[in-house]
Amino acid sequence: MKRIIAALSLGLFATAPAGAASLYNTLDGNAPLIVAHRGASGYLPEHTLGGYELALEMGADVIEPDLQMTADGVLVAMHDATLARTTNVEALFAPRNGDYRVSDFTLAEIKSLTVEPTGATASTDYPGFAPTMADPYKVPTFQEVMDLVAAHNAATGAGIGIYPEAKTPNSLAMNRQILEEMKSNGFDGSVPNTFVQTFSHEGARQLAALQTEIGMDNAIAALGYALDLGDGFGVYDATTGSVTALEDLAGFADGLGLYLGYDLDATFIAAAHELGLSVHGWTFRPRTDEAAWEMFLPWIEAGMDGFFTDYAQRGVDVLDRYEAAEVPVPATLPLMLAGLGGLAALRRRRAVA
Ligand code: G3P
Ligand code: CA
Repeated sequence: MKRIIAALSLGLFATAPAGAASLYNTLDGNAPLIVAHRGASGYLPEHTLGGYELALEMGADVIEPDLQMTADGVLVAMHDATLARTTNVEALFAPRNGDYRVSDFTLAEIKSLTVEPTGATASTDYPGFAPTMADPYKVPTFQEVMDLVAAHNAATGAGIGIYPEAKTPNSLAMNRQILEEMKSNGFDGSVPNTFVQTFSHEGARQLAALQTEIGMDNAIAALGYALDLGDGFGVYDATTGSVTALEDLAGFADGLGLYLGYDLDATFIAAAHELGLSVHGWTFRPRTDEAAWEMFLPWIEAGMDGFFTDYAQRGVDVLDRYEAAEVPVPATLPLMLAGLGGLAALRRRRAVA
């Protein structure tokens, strides 16, 4: 219900009571985004269609695929530069060039692999969840990820975004391919909460320029580590060992994806907001529901705009609890909203049965 009051404060309803304040100190006053980090990677094998589908069912706002390029030029969802940590490649193939780099294997070879659960809490089973695809734990192509999210949006009327990461080193050709594939799948800037991210700040600047050239307008997010420079704030770019000032980032980026340490705090977030930059933190990995509350709450109150989390359900639950705990609703408000018929759409988050 508090999200409804936030909507009122933003003027989304003509009858908003005077003085109603947003519950959130986010850049747009809306609830922080729950970004499904590597899918539902705390529950199921990371970066798989099954994992993304579970995250959608849990009510994530955004699906995050990290992207690598195969030997035959296909973008696939994979965090690491090699196949070894997350798949059974070592059981099926000999190393190539001394390793199992994605870029040394064809898509057909990679499709023969199975993605295995990693981390302490993931498995191949989640209670009450039955993946709809025949083989849910293969390495998906970027195309398949977009197909899944687009089909979900078409079927439900939701506007779930995607947050592809061009893993570094990201070439001009790779950046162009990511954007062109997004545009041809309708992710041209018209799908809400869609970002393109990279750790390379020069790469982010290039992505912004390429979007203009191609004629699309997704948000661009630069990744890194928050720094208080004394006379301002910046973000450390670990790919070059340099620091980019927030003012420079605001020249080409719309948001920042930041590690939850270094100098990241409410003051940094407020400075980013002053420049029009949203702030999304990574990575939220609470092991229990209570740990989730304690981990998310300070960042909600600091005005963070989105949470990369392996546990989408816990992120959704924390926001619901936060909203339930806050401002009492005037007795007439539910009746007014029922008349507007908007409740069903606003209560879009649902737990998996
Ligand atoms: O992209 C934001 C966050 O995912 C960065 O961490 O290493 O999981 O890609 P990583
Ligand atoms: Ca990532």
